[in-house]
Amino acid sequence: MCPPEHFRVTYSINPWMDPGKPVDLPLAIAQWEHLRDRYLELGHTVEVLEPQPDLPDMVYAANGATVVDGRVLGARFAHPERAGEAVAHRDWYLSHGFADVREPEHINEGEGDFAITASWLLAGRGFRSSPLSHGEVQEFFGRPVIGLDLVDPRYYHLDTALCVLDDAVDGAVMYYPEAFSPGSRAVLARLFPDAIVADAADARAFGMNSVSDGHHVLVPQAAQGLFEPLRKRGFEPVGVDLGELLKGGGSVKCCTAELRS
Ligand code: ARG
Repeated sequence: MCPPEHFRVTYSINPWMDPGKPVDLPLAIAQWEHLRDRYLELGHTVEVLEPQPDLPDMVYAANGATVVDGRVLGARFAHPERAGEAVAHRDWYLSHGFADVREPEHINEGEGDFAITASWLLAGRGFRSSPLSHGEVQEFFGRPVIGLDLVDPRYYHLDTALCVLDDAVDGAVMYYPEAFSPGSRAVLARLFPDAIVADAADARAFGMNSVSDGHHVLVPQAAQGLFEPLRKRGFEPVGVDLGELLKGGGSVKCCTAELRS
């Protein structure tokens, strides 16, 4: 995770970002610390990446790389405003014992567009990550890639439209169908017939931008419609309010890069 010390909205690269809308920085920091504390209370380890003053979106740590089996595929950002984040992430991995760290050839925004299930690597495209990154990520991790087409600019990253609830069980996902093309919707229905299917209100509350450890699911508090379906499937939803960070177009998952060893 990367603390939002320098978080602000000074440019707009997704429909949620309005530079005219003020950000309450102390509140953003308090909300981020609350999320970090929930992870610690649940027994997880949190590593902290040093924020940089000229990179206000660095708080969205999920975009900086993808880590599977301890191997790291770095990011290459679509927008110049965020380009400098990629090297900060790669340097962090190199100085923290990760031997296999690859600088990618094609544009990919890390876990923003790559999600790991038991059998597959789900990969979004349409707004940020290049379709060419899908071949690259498959070759690097040796996991079969399922390409998914995103069609709604509000859900510009896969992790705003789909969440893996248990990466040991293939069926355990939730997603918002309207964010995907008709063909990708059919793919998701075929792969995940028992998924939790979110409605527009829960998607708008960034409910798909949740993080699960396989049992606890840290969910944006306002996505109330997800709590009961999650409980019914044996998960324990933990609500968190990241309202200030939503002004940059991100929530729980965007703020969390998962170190899959
Ligand atoms: N302002 C950031 C951007 O548009 C938000 C990134 C959100 N991160 C995510 N994993 N969806 O790039």
